[in-house]
Formats: sequence, structure tokens, C-alpha cells
Amino acid sequence: MRNSSTGWTRWAGELAGPRFSEFQIALTAHNTRRLEPRLPEEAGQNDLEIEHTIACAEVDFIEAQRKIIAPLVADIPSKTDEFIAWFERLKQTGPGQGDPLFPWLATEADTEQMKWFLLQEVAGEAGFDDLLAMTQVKMSVQAKLEMARNFWDEMGRGREKAMHGPMLERLASYFDLAPTPDKVVPESLALGNTMIALARHRRYAFHSAGALGVIEMTAPTRAGFVDKGLRRLKIPPKKRHYFALHAVLDIKHSEEWNREVLRPLVAEDPRRARAIGEGAVMRLWHGARSFDRYRQELGISNSDKNIIPVPHRANTARPTVEYQISAA
Ligand SMILES: [Fe+2]
Ligand SMILES: [Fe+2]
Repeated sequence: MRNSSTGWTRWAGELAGPRFSEFQIALTAHNTRRLEPRLPEEAGQNDLEIEHTIACAEVDFIEAQRKIIAPLVADIPSKTDEFIAWFERLKQTGPGQGDPLFPWLATEADTEQMKWFLLQEVAGEAGFDDLLAMTQVKMSVQAKLEMARNFWDEMGRGREKAMHGPMLERLASYFDLAPTPDKVVPESLALGNTMIALARHRRYAFHSAGALGVIEMTAPTRAGFVDKGLRRLKIPPKKRHYFALHAVLDIKHSEEWNREVLRPLVAEDPRRARAIGEGAVMRLWHGARSFDRYRQELGISNSDKNIIPVPHRANTARPTVEYQISAA
């Protein structure tokens, strides 16, 4: 049941426009609190009621995305080898790949522009380690082992200084970044909210495995450009280590994820190919929408990529249509 604090959940199916923005800001605010470890006496009286309402809204949000991205996933093969080849092609043809934002960050962005970009990215970052920890629950052995190895890398192999999350925080504090939902574009918030929804709802466990895998696969190119930009802006190596590291390490993570996680999961049950593929495309789709919005905000010209219409339910009988970048 909706009460005054969860009225925003009614906009779960909106993927653009002011209601989309309202929903993403509210869900981000809720997500920052909901995963905090707590004591029984700290729980609110109607916590469970609120949690139920928001959980239903998250499912509506994900289902609306599944409808929108349907044209991009119409051809997902369910045989293991074909599926892996399809998945690996996303690196070239997936939404947002080759976006001109990144070469621009590497060669032209000034410090303020880079800072603005990082603020958006830090806010959209839901914490790969925790997403992974939630996703691996009760996965089969081969997939779980690789998830554990990946998690151990995220944990800096037991050394605090080498943990990936704090490494990003060091860069954020160097730039004095304090992202609050109102300073961040809703497209970036939607990305983080989607990753959390996929990892938390077990019906989307394989979507989450696909979304995490596509991050590993596409991060090195982006991280390489960002690192080059940070180097050009004379940011000390220790502070930009997060991007320098991911430009290299995620190449290995991606190969291992595809071989040790995705391959056995699909071989065990071919229906999972669709779920994994959808999760991957959803993650890239949000990335593409974020890059598009960043370019608008930063005044960088649009690329000539193909577009698909994104209808959003406005108060009109006919859906209004916005255009966003999509795959070729
Ligand atoms: Fe990482
Ligand atoms: Fe990684």
C-alpha cells in the first residue's frame, strides 16, 4: 500500500521526463539507506510495508525496461557457443559503445568538466563488490567460484589499500565530490538503481550476472580514456589508480566471467541466455542514456548513432516519444 512517503513509486514505469526523475531521485535516496546494517530498535514501524511497496515498484521499473529494450534482444541465441559470441559482440555493437564522450574526456575536458563527469559516475556506482555478493547467493559451483575470485580482487585480495571501492573514494575525495541525488542526472541514478534492483530480486539473478559481466567487458575502454584524461590533467597516479587498474584488470575479469560464469549458467539452463542478455543490454542502455545526457550537459555534439524511440507515459492519450542512443 502506498503512503505519503512512497507516493513516488507510482512512476516506476516512466523511463523519461519529470516523473522518471522524481522516481530515480527517491529510489536512490531509499537505496542509500536500505542496505545499511541496522539494529532491531532502529527499524521503523512501517519499514516492511514501505519495503514491499518499493520492491513492487522496482519490479515494475525493470519490466518497463525489458519492454523498451526488446528490439535489441530479439535475436539472443540459447545455445551456449552462439550465446557467448552474441554476448561478446555487445562490446562493439551494444548501446553506448564507442561513445565520443570518452575520447573527449581523454583529450579535451578541463578539470571542472572532468570533475562534473566523475560526480555523475560516482553517484551511479552502486558498488560492484556488494552487487556481486548479492548476486552470487546459491549460484552453481563453477559460477560461484569465479564470482568469489572476482570478489576477492574487489577486496584488494585482503589488503585495504587495494580494495576497489575505497580506491574510487580516494579519487572522489581528492576532487571533493559529494554526490547527492539532486546534483546527479536521473539517467545516471537509474543505472545504479537498476543494478541494485537486479541484484536484490532473485527473479533477476541471471539478469544481474549479465549486467555485471557486461561491465567487466566494456569498462576497460572507458577506464582507459578516463585515465588518459586524468593523466593529462596531472592528477597524481595514486589518486587515479582506480581507472588505471580497471583499464587492465577488467580485461582478464571479463574473459573469466564469460568463460566461468556465463558459459556454465547457460549450459545448465538455456533459458538463462535471454535473462543474461537482457541484463547486459539494460546496463548498456542506461550507460548510453547517461553518456548522451552528459554530452548535452557538457555541450559536446551528438554522435550519429542509430536511435530507438523511448515512449514515456505522459498525461496525453498518445505517448510522447524521446529519442535515445541505441545499438547499431
Ligand atoms: Fe573493480
Ligand atoms: Fe573487475
